[in-house]
Amino acid sequence: MPSVARSVQNVPHSRIRELAEIAMSMDGVLRLYFGESNLPTPGYIKRAAVRAIEEGYTFYTENAGLPSLRRAIAENYRRLHGVELDPAREIVVTASGVQALNMGIRCALDPDDEAIMLTPAWPNASSSVMMANATVRHLPHALEGRRYRVDFDALEAAFTPRTRLLIYTSPSNPLGWVATLEDQRKLLDFARRHDLWLLADEVYDRLYWAGERLSDPAPSILRIATRDDAVVVVHSFSKSYCMTGWRLGWLIARADMAAKATQLNEFVISHAASFAQKAGETALAEGEPELAVMLERLKANRDLCLEALGGVKGLTLPVPDGAFYLFPRIDGLRDSFGFCLRLLEETRVGLAPGVAFGKGGEGSVRICYAAERSILEPAMDRLTRFLRAGA
Ligand SMILES: Cc1ncc(COP(=O)(O)O)c(C=O)c1O
Repeated sequence: MPSVARSVQNVPHSRIRELAEIAMSMDGVLRLYFGESNLPTPGYIKRAAVRAIEEGYTFYTENAGLPSLRRAIAENYRRLHGVELDPAREIVVTASGVQALNMGIRCALDPDDEAIMLTPAWPNASSSVMMANATVRHLPHALEGRRYRVDFDALEAAFTPRTRLLIYTSPSNPLGWVATLEDQRKLLDFARRHDLWLLADEVYDRLYWAGERLSDPAPSILRIATRDDAVVVVHSFSKSYCMTGWRLGWLIARADMAAKATQLNEFVISHAASFAQKAGETALAEGEPELAVMLERLKANRDLCLEALGGVKGLTLPVPDGAFYLFPRIDGLRDSFGFCLRLLEETRVGLAPGVAFGKGGEGSVRICYAAERSILEPAMDRLTRFLRAGA
């Protein structure tokens, strides 16, 4: 009997999913373990999808996605980042951010190549590297006071002749860390000096708390990279438009990689669902007013959680500048999965264990604060009591 290929057997399970599966079998859980809010997709997007189905967007589209959606994405970069992209050559629509991530990684790595990944990070990129028969080296961010930073000395030391790719997420899931312009310059310089692909996961760019205005996005690496740089940007409709279940995202890449990703799309998914693509177009064109309301709500949620946890002894609470997570470190904690399990069983609060996010994650827990107040307030109350009781 043939066995399942060793290379895929080695891909670990997501420990966020493992905790979630247990939580889903229980009643009355306050669910803060996944990266999504409990708010439905806004009505104007749902209506656009229904309209698209009625107008006949039920057939195959181009592998790179509808040209009109690619133009809308390019327009979005022009407006938000002052960046000019060629929608026909540099943008590929994907069936989710995670598919864009998988495709970008697959197009950058040969078997036995090595990727360096800044961690703690959402585990899917590491697993995609393993699915490409390559290896991943985790490089933890350093925590300085209440902010994370990139350890550039350790990054330099982590480079080997096999390194082909550097992956980072800004704004970061789970840290809320956002790359500064100086960080971006140094990361780009590192990639250029060592002839590496640089993959930036920017799916949270609209959830940015350190801009002049709440509507300012976290700056994209595309602002300082040239279109000839070996730079790949991964993005998604999931977070900014409450569209997690729609599976729609995009990839920006140097034209040669974008062409290859377009071709490979044929063999993986062919393209994202046609009517979802039309709805995505509407989200980009008409989404700002609803987004502004959501950002106000998320920022208030973040402040509520920071305040609730601020006074708890034995907790280091880094300040997140983006995304919708807190990643508190609990003094002396060595088994974050066990902690989350006990918290779940005793208080019915579901968090993601820090160990799920790779090197540097153990000892912390991730709280997604995108939920409504009616969930968040009792969850913070129960969590702080659990922590104060010395759990
Ligand atoms: C850092 C990061 N990248 C990519 C994604 C993918 O989002 P989706 O596949 O829903 O588009 C997520 C989702 O949680 C994420 O946290």
